[in-house]
Amino acid sequence: MSDQHFNPDNTDLDRLHGAVKREKADLPPGSEPAPMWVMFLGFIAAVLAGGQMGSFSGYGLESVPTYGAIQDPRSGGGPQVQLSPFELAMKKGETAYGTCNGCHQATGLGTPGAFPPLAGSDWATGGTERLIRVVLHGLSGQITVSGKPFTAPAPMPGWGATMTDDDIANALTYVRNSWGNKASMVTPDMVAKVRGTEKARSAAWTQAELEPYSKKDVAGDAPPAQ
Ligand code: HEC
Repeated sequence: MSDQHFNPDNTDLDRLHGAVKREKADLPPGSEPAPMWVMFLGFIAAVLAGGQMGSFSGYGLESVPTYGAIQDPRSGGGPQVQLSPFELAMKKGETAYGTCNGCHQATGLGTPGAFPPLAGSDWATGGTERLIRVVLHGLSGQITVSGKPFTAPAPMPGWGATMTDDDIANALTYVRNSWGNKASMVTPDMVAKVRGTEKARSAAWTQAELEPYSKKDVAGDAPPAQ
């Protein structure tokens, strides 16, 4: 018989130790609290991600006025960069061109035998009276693009019903000033004027019908300097 049988405190201590040991043993592997440095790394990552999101919020091009200042991501969330009307139209135009690039391609080169090129096209850089009409109501039949005959298997559909004046103007400013093209801006006002003049029309145009407009520009509010 040892002494502990006569000491009730010893018995309690044994039970206590037993409980403590069980508790530790009960923790399944992997559920130990994360070391401090792991939590710290997680915190840094969260702060960085938050900062990124913050500096890009408000950069939705739809949410900015036609002409004005937008937060340029290059400024890293710093002071606002003032874009010229031309720069802003080009930025929005690149997005609006998403309606066209399925056929005319992001390169503006089109697809031989199916979709004519906009890069280097006299239709693209020529009269805005003709260009805006093509986009509003479409184009059908054989055409000549920069001196080369082109026969499309299917006509180009018009976009007047689905695109706003803003989107058409910006897309056309983009088309007229990308891939080496260089021509004046197209403004929403110019598109609205042609839309108004042609509101009775629904059929696609032919090259012959548009000939009188091929070198004619819509009297518009295009700023002279780009
Ligand atoms: C569904 C395919 C398709 C889409 C989308 C499309 N086009 Fe076209 N586009 C054509 C075809 C086909 C022709 C040639 C029509 C013809 O030969 O009569 C053409 C011709 C043109 C021309 C005159 C020819 C040339 O090569 O310059 C211009 C300018 C033009 N498209 C601009 C646009 C713009 C701007 C958009 C977007 C708003 C657009 N197109 C969207 C198929 C498309």
